[in-house]
Amino acid sequence: MKLSFNGPPGQEDMPYLLTPGPLTTSRNVKLAMLADWGSRDVEFRQLVADMCKRLLELANCDSRYECVIMQGSGTFAIEAALGSLCPVFRQKTLVVANGAYGDRAAQILKRLNRPFAKIDKGDSAAPTVGEIVEVLEADAGISHVWMIHCETTSGIVNPIIEIGLAVKQRGLTFMVDAMSSFGAIPIDMAGMDMDVMVSSSNKCIEGVPGFSYVLVKRELLEAGAGVSHSVVLDLHEQWRGLQANGQFRFTPPTHALVAFHQALKEHEAQGGVAARGARYARNADALIDGMREMGFSTLLDDNMAGPIIQTFLTPRDPNFYFESFYKALRKRGFAIYPGKLTKRPSFRIGTIGQIDEIVIAAALAAVREVLGEMNVTDLAPLES
Ligand SMILES: Cc1ncc(COP(=O)(O)O)c(C=O)c1O
Repeated sequence: MKLSFNGPPGQEDMPYLLTPGPLTTSRNVKLAMLADWGSRDVEFRQLVADMCKRLLELANCDSRYECVIMQGSGTFAIEAALGSLCPVFRQKTLVVANGAYGDRAAQILKRLNRPFAKIDKGDSAAPTVGEIVEVLEADAGISHVWMIHCETTSGIVNPIIEIGLAVKQRGLTFMVDAMSSFGAIPIDMAGMDMDVMVSSSNKCIEGVPGFSYVLVKRELLEAGAGVSHSVVLDLHEQWRGLQANGQFRFTPPTHALVAFHQALKEHEAQGGVAARGARYARNADALIDGMREMGFSTLLDDNMAGPIIQTFLTPRDPNFYFESFYKALRKRGFAIYPGKLTKRPSFRIGTIGQIDEIVIAAALAAVREVLGEMNVTDLAPLES
């Protein structure tokens, strides 16, 4: 079936992905994949090395840090980092959770039989430094802290700078899942003395899915020899393999890597992290203003919502069905995202990717049209 709308340049019959990744990529990122690269070729190895160099620079890493690329989605790098770097016994990891991705990190540690403690802030509250300090003071067994930068479940941006400072002042290992924020919200790893950061190819750098990466202090990688539960997800071995000859231990997603390299070059040419963050913030402001004008409510207060993804509360109008809303928007060229909150019914609209305020204005016009078509008039939120 051919859909009849105007989508992103180069794929006009496909919708804009208003989701937190996979997201809409540029035409040149897509074009970069129209070639077959040999994974052992010298050109490919140089490209991967340049990619790592650029990623380390973007996170302001100094010579203490390494970049390890892992095949697979973001969760593969998360499980690799947790399984290769977190304590196996005696000491434990504190997971700071306020959504599905914090819960998942705890779930991974549990499955791996790694000692951990968890702070659970629910779905829409940010952890405070005071709360973290209290837990750290009460439990001398905590040696590592894992937290999420932008918790994509709601879009909330957590205070990693303040919490990182408290963690590092106590000499503990600070690990951050910056999957959905890296590239759009500044992260100064060396300045913060952050130990580990994980992200993936299909988020704010605007590449396509296929791999994830861990920026990590070399001393931690060295200490991680023989710690991993897994052959494939062994971060130490993956690093050693790449270091030895610039080759991956197992077949890499060559097309995704080459597309990502192109995306990194575009990221730089467009003004880097500051410009990307500013464009996403303009998208987010335009979307929130337009949705509120129609009567929708946001889950988060404006000072908590980041520029990555916005959560809207499901309207109480009996004519509103998310599935029909989703399908009607999809038909008009916009793919949105269901909610993932544990308590309040909601849906999400991503504001990242190759989109700007013109795309957001068109998406808002489509929402208005679909509400009319569905005869939805009462947009006050459904009670939880
Ligand atoms: C903060 C965060 N952590 C982890 C993940 C998991 O990544 P993936 O779905 O690529 O495995 C996501 C995905 O959106 C995310 O936003």
